[in-house]
Amino acid sequence: MTYILGFGGYVPERVMSNDDWAELVDTSDEWITQRTGIKRRRIAADDESTLTLAANAAGIAIKDAGLTPDDVDEIIVATDTPEVYTPDTAALLQDLLGCRNIPTYDLGGSGCAGFVQALDVARARISFSSKNVLVVGVELITRLLDWTDRSTAVLFGDGAGAVVLGPEPGRARILDVITGTDGSAAGILTLAAGGTRNPFSRRTLESGEYNRLVMDGRRVFTEAVNRMSQAVNEVLQRIGSTVGDVALVIPHQANLRIIEAVRKKLGVDQDRVYVNVHEYGNTGSATVPFAMWEGVETGRIREGDLVVLTAFGAGFHWAAAALQF
Ligand code: ACO
Repeated sequence: MTYILGFGGYVPERVMSNDDWAELVDTSDEWITQRTGIKRRRIAADDESTLTLAANAAGIAIKDAGLTPDDVDEIIVATDTPEVYTPDTAALLQDLLGCRNIPTYDLGGSGCAGFVQALDVARARISFSSKNVLVVGVELITRLLDWTDRSTAVLFGDGAGAVVLGPEPGRARILDVITGTDGSAAGILTLAAGGTRNPFSRRTLESGEYNRLVMDGRRVFTEAVNRMSQAVNEVLQRIGSTVGDVALVIPHQANLRIIEAVRKKLGVDQDRVYVNVHEYGNTGSATVPFAMWEGVETGRIREGDLVVLTAFGAGFHWAAAALQF
């Protein structure tokens, strides 16, 4: 069995409001609020990076677990915005935290579903050989996006969330996780420059492809709603529970309208769905672990609660996890 032993979360201090965005591009607080529910987001300081965001959240999670970096046996970092192209952010995190020479790897490119996918990988690793695994979801997406593209830039923010998992009883038991992928949808949400197909070059720089997030917003919206609600029902079915048993659903925080549509499809009340997208925007693979940490910190999640996480991201990938606190 796999347990969550500790939770951590971190967001940068700098707050950027919708009005701040309206000074840079042709948008308004009204448009952003109405379409997305986002009111503000956090932006990393110049001296912060993906690695420092990850280390802040990881440090809190390790301490919360009553452990030290020496007790961590493996690290998985879910991110689409790595510290450098190679090596993986997880290797750099191992060094910064002062861990032993334990194995580390990134789960990259899964977009916003990366953290829940990483939970699934981590629990498989733990069932194979008992160990404490640090799992981090982190994005510093605002540094890589096109700040002149109003249709994508206003949606995102920076942040990190982390958990430490282990085989000994802890704060929450992972009851089950389901994951899925539809690779045929890859072109609908993609940053298609920088890899071998289309390496960074003077041409990608001049054409603006190097930081252009291609997104069919409506298709992403529909798929996100369907996949996340199906994933929640599937994981509940597998553990023999129904939505009536769930104390809190923590969905990926991309957009309030997506969250609301998932809630309605599932048939749960508003007070049983976690929402913080108005405060932080879409922090990619960090939204779910950060919200979970916030929920634990504020007492919104209590002992005895059945909590379901669900996420959806580029790929398309989707996932859901059932946790017994
Ligand atoms: N401010 C003002 N106007 C804008 C902005 C903006 N920031 N962005 C786009 N517009 C304009 C468009 O140009 C368009 O103008 P036009 O009609 O003259 O062409 C108009 O607003 C309407 O655009 P739509 O794309 O039709 O707006 P829609 O209601 O679909 O909302 C949105 C767009 C918010 C992106 C929506 O499709 C959505 O939420 N999709 C989900 C995508 C998402 O959340 N992605 C995040 C990453 S993926 C993930 O996390 C799962």
